Amino acid sequence: MTFAAPLFLPCAAGVEAMLADEVRALSGGAIDSSRGGVALNGNATLAMRLNLESRLAQRVLWRVAQAPYRDEGDLYALARALPWHEWISPKQTLRVDTTARGAPLKSLNFATLRIKDAVCDAMREHAGARPDVNTTDPDLALVLHLDGDLAQLYVDTSGEPLFKRGWRDSQAGDAPLKETLAAALLAAAGWRGREEDGALFDPCCGSGTIAIEAAHIACDRAPGLQRRFAFERLAPFRDHAVAWRNLQHAARARVHASPVPIFAGDVSFRMVDFAQRHAARAGVDAAIAFKTADMLQRLPPAERGTMVLNPPYGERLAPKGRGTVPTREQAQGAPDTASFFAALAAHWKRHYAGWTAWLLSPDAKLPSLMRLKESRRVPLWNGPIECRLFRFDIVAGAMRERARAQ
Ligand SMILES: C[S@@+](CC[C@H](N)C(=O)[O-])C[C@H]1O[C@@H](n2cnc3c(N)ncnc32)[C@H](O)[C@@H]1O
Repeated sequence: MTFAAPLFLPCAAGVEAMLADEVRALSGGAIDSSRGGVALNGNATLAMRLNLESRLAQRVLWRVAQAPYRDEGDLYALARALPWHEWISPKQTLRVDTTARGAPLKSLNFATLRIKDAVCDAMREHAGARPDVNTTDPDLALVLHLDGDLAQLYVDTSGEPLFKRGWRDSQAGDAPLKETLAAALLAAAGWRGREEDGALFDPCCGSGTIAIEAAHIACDRAPGLQRRFAFERLAPFRDHAVAWRNLQHAARARVHASPVPIFAGDVSFRMVDFAQRHAARAGVDAAIAFKTADMLQRLPPAERGTMVLNPPYGERLAPKGRGTVPTREQAQGAPDTASFFAALAAHWKRHYAGWTAWLLSPDAKLPSLMRLKESRRVPLWNGPIECRLFRFDIVAGAMRERARAQ
């Protein structure tokens, strides 16, 4: 088999252009950015490198077949023709997922089943036995994508989605950002962890995602250094085990100390404790200065810098004055969303002049709540929630005062 293929890297909506820049830099070749991800041609080494190095992609898919189709019979034929025994042995396991946009089929479940049957029939014919299905931890995960008339079948080379970097304690944090989205916020902010980018500060860091992602960027630490990938269990990639070890070795060797200070804090001591432990597991505790503090009162940790945050919001997490589980008095005295953001803006105008703040929020009216005018607004999706990333250039006094003076 020629071991090169069209690759597709899906990403969250709104991240395509940033992922395109990242993949262009990692691959050094031509790419095609489309809705929902980035496509390019690549070999095994490139697929492994993208898994190891991409901070923004959800996974790396390896296309094994593509053809027009009309019904499930065509889908069966598409998968039946492939040499699956070159990918796995009958002792290994299988899972198939189907995504579709405008597919003319009655049941996507039936399409999924036909692909699974085709792989099992091909394996039984060649090896005398078929693989079992394992929906939680399969060796071979296939993704079938159906358009109106085109079927594309991919091998998922990542396995667990790439936002799982391998350092998170799944019990920690009420509303953690996905690591891929945290990386997208930093990319949208243009913060690349170089000396000229200056200090980075997340004043409501929760489980620490943004600060840890920032520290990985600043230390040039590959996001996939602490996890395994599906391709490690697939036969065609076993021939490339030396190349894989070399990629990991080179990635470890280039890690260095952060050239910029990174600060993080949260009003909840418990969250700061989690975040600190996460940073230690992610290998970047030395790069981040943590502090338990109320962002409505905390003074700037550096003269100038960039804040990147997803503040507590509405139904997901009420902003609190102090502590994760407020006492009754605190709950009664806790500001509502509007007064929390008004107080935050007033505090920033007073103490954070010269800083740039990037806030991710599901509320399109956040700037009017803060009585600040955003200088940029980037649409991004936090899972199913449509959000915007607002940029505020903080100046002393700001808007109202300036308006009065004019
Ligand atoms: C949406 S979460 C941030 C999640 C975080 N980005 C992560 O990935 O885990 C908001 C955080 O704001 C914190 N918080 C609420 N009020 C605060 C305040 N006044 N000062 C600082 N942090 C606050 C909460 O404890 C919570 O951890």
